[in-house]
Amino acid sequence: MMEPRRTRVVDVSRNSSSEDVELEVLIGKEEIRKRVKELAEEISRDYEGCERPLMVGILNGAFIFMADLVREMKIPVEIEFMRVKSYSGSDTTGKVEVLMDVNNIRGRKVVVVEDIIDTGITLSCIVRRIREKGAESVRVCALLDKPSRRVVDVKADYVGFTIPDYFVVGYGLDYNGRYRELPEIYRIRS
Ligand code: IMP
Ligand code: MG
Repeated sequence: MMEPRRTRVVDVSRNSSSEDVELEVLIGKEEIRKRVKELAEEISRDYEGCERPLMVGILNGAFIFMADLVREMKIPVEIEFMRVKSYSGSDTTGKVEVLMDVNNIRGRKVVVVEDIIDTGITLSCIVRRIREKGAESVRVCALLDKPSRRVVDVKADYVGFTIPDYFVVGYGLDYNGRYRELPEIYRIRS
């Protein structure tokens, strides 16, 4: 379980606004880099000798994770993206809308690449949809997992870090569209 070790408040002085929140580093760059490499190696071993797996990144949150993950893969892969919307602010709406779908996945071995599993609602909808479209197999690789928040029983086959019930941003994850560009993972202090 990841716990924050040092405090770093992001410098927002140049463009500060009343919406700014205080951030604390939860997982640093080097730790992320190491873990992403390990995940890629594990997935590569599992799919070695198979037909090219189709890695499906879930936009927008997984874009940075996906880019780093596929560059550490030791086997050839194919890449697609899906875009779903399930969140407003830091509270779940429990509703998932497909904004961009993935096609031609019949008979493919799919690896869903997700930023974080929270309630599990988003992921269970995505996995069901990919199965319905005739994928041969579906596995899930999630950078972060918050198991204490689960309302739908869904598990990832590959998990980067298990974290407590914090709302986190950075490395692709947002809070109302902000902070995706930060290279580390931060928790929002409340
Ligand atoms: P779930 O359907 O509740 O599992 O929510 C999954 C989606 O909610 C993720 O793909 C994220 O986009 C978003 N989400 C959940 N927790 C966080 C968080 O701590 N920070 C940023 N986004 C989050
Ligand atoms: Mg999101």
